[in-house]
Parts: sequence; C-alpha cells; structure tokens
Amino acid sequence: MDMIISNSAAETESHGFHYAEGLGKGAVIGLSGDLGAGKTCWVRGLARGLGVASRVYSPTFALLHEYEGGRLPLFHLDLYRLEGIDEIYGAGLEGYLLGSQGVTVVEWIERWEAFPPVELPKYRKIHIEILDEFKRKIIVGAGRDGQF
Ligand SMILES: Nc1ncnc2c1ncn2[C@@H]1O[C@H](COP(=O)(O)OP(=O)(O)O)[C@@H](O)[C@H]1O
Ligand SMILES: [Mg+2]
Repeated sequence: MDMIISNSAAETESHGFHYAEGLGKGAVIGLSGDLGAGKTCWVRGLARGLGVASRVYSPTFALLHEYEGGRLPLFHLDLYRLEGIDEIYGAGLEGYLLGSQGVTVVEWIERWEAFPPVELPKYRKIHIEILDEFKRKIIVGAGRDGQF
C-alpha cells in the first residue's frame, strides 16, 4: 500500500497522470472517497496520461463516458446514483467492471463493494481522503486482499 499527500487539484491530477503509465488493456481501477474528494480530478489526469485529448466530465448522470483517441480507450463509470448490484446490472455496467478492451475507471466503487457479486472482479483500488480544503490523502492499493 502506498500513500501520498496531495496539496492541490493539480497534484491529484498529476498523480492520475503518472498512474496511467503502468496500465495495460483490461485494467480496472476502483476509486473511493467522499463527494468532492477529487476522484474526477484524478481521472482527468489519468485520461491525459493515456493520451486522451478531450475534456473529462463527471459521469454522475450519464453513468458511463467513453474516451477514444488515447493509447487505450478509457471507460469512465460513476456508480454514485446506483443503489445496489441489481441497478448496476440493470444499467448494463457489470461488463465494464470485469474488464474491457481498454482501461476502466470507476468512481464510487463502494457501491460495487457493498454488494459483491458471487465472482469478485480484480481491480486496483485508490482511496482519496479529504484532510482539509486543499489537502488530500491518496491511498493506492487500499483494497481488500487480492484486489489489485
Ligand atoms: N488536493 C486536491 N485534490 C483534488 N481536488 C481538490 C484538491 N484540493 C481542492 N480540490 C477541489 O475539490 C474538488 C474535487 O472535485 P471532484 O474531482 O469532482 O471530486 P469527486 O469526483 O471525488 O466528487 C474540485 O473542486 C477541486 O478543485
Ligand atoms: Mg466525481
């Protein structure tokens, strides 16, 4: 487990940017942390790191945004509005959570963790904790055993 302190939105974005380097096809990243922690901000950096040129918006209402044009396609999910596993399946999102032809990044992975399906997918876990207005603790690999 790795932990860093971010002192600004730019630093959190930069962490995501560098994290993109090690990712290959099929990688799934689960982000947790309160509203406003900086999950979308981190994904912005990740997208840039993959070479995605378009702007990244929060998919809270669309549930899924797909970004092409980078080294790998990026699938950006947000489970915030989904109440449970039935709704995740109902929205047809479970396939992305199990991997894709690109990189999948999921905000509010807590929603999936709260209702684990029989077969848990393997994903890399990143937790962002709000310390104060600008300070965040980014914990890499904060998942349950084996979920990296
Ligand atoms: N160190 C930091 N890292 C990330 N965001 C920060 C930081 N400090 C302040 N912020 C602000 O917090 C907000 C994070 O928003 P967002 O990334 O949409 O959060 P989430 O997706 O977790 O709800 C932004 O307004 C951003 O400018
Ligand atoms: Mg968000």
